[in-house]
Amino acid sequence: MTVFAIMNGKGGVGKTTICAGLSRALGLAGKDVALVDSDPQGSMQDLAGENAEQSITIYTIERTQLAAQIPRLTNEIVIIDGTAKAADLAKKTIAVADIIIIPVTPSPLDVWATSDIVGMIQDRMDELSGTGQTLKAYFLVNRAIGNSKLSKSIAKTLAGYGFPVLKSRLVSRTAHPNSQLTGQTPLDTQPNGLAARELRALRDEVLAMLA
Ligand SMILES: Nc1ncnc2c1ncn2[C@@H]1O[C@H](COP(=O)(O)OP(=O)(O)OP(=O)(O)O)[C@@H](O)[C@H]1O
Ligand SMILES: [Mg+2]
Repeated sequence: MTVFAIMNGKGGVGKTTICAGLSRALGLAGKDVALVDSDPQGSMQDLAGENAEQSITIYTIERTQLAAQIPRLTNEIVIIDGTAKAADLAKKTIAVADIIIIPVTPSPLDVWATSDIVGMIQDRMDELSGTGQTLKAYFLVNRAIGNSKLSKSIAKTLAGYGFPVLKSRLVSRTAHPNSQLTGQTPLDTQPNGLAARELRALRDEVLAMLA
């Protein structure tokens, strides 16, 4: 089992959108995926509630219970919607993760705001060093816009934080909120569109991490 946590202390950066899109893409590729909603808003459950044919298992686990409950899951891939503003709760999510994906929008304020979570992840990596257990972390640019000067400067700032930036990125596309209206993803509503293509590219990059 590989546990992914999609995390950023900042709200509205696309954590739930990425959890939904990535898990659906992995499910369509035949992977056995479970989603864990640790979000007190219950956003994943809200999305699933709009879609009677929702095929992915969603567990709601309080963050204080993650350490006890996650090891009991038997799925090949577990993806945690890791909403967490409070540091102690973010640490509980980090502690159960193998791979953390930090969505960032291409705005300096959002990038600077990731420094807290980056620090917590680095502390955990230090703690694990020499234990044989590994933790990896990557940035994922979400809601990208066609501004290459801004994108370059953001990429440079992110590189300074020491975690790689995923090659795949999600552009700001209405297909995401539009498909969420019916609890779906762009992979269901516009499978040949650009948003779906970007989700499949993300899925392939994630699958390569497992290889
Ligand atoms: N690539 C994208 N293109 C267009 N809209 C997007 C994209 N990613 C996310 N959104 C929209 O941005 C809003 C916030 O996204 P989302 O709820 O996934 O963020 P979040 O990080 O889970 O927020 P919270 O911290 O409140 O849980 C939603 O309305 C979502 O539809
Ligand atoms: Mg959310």
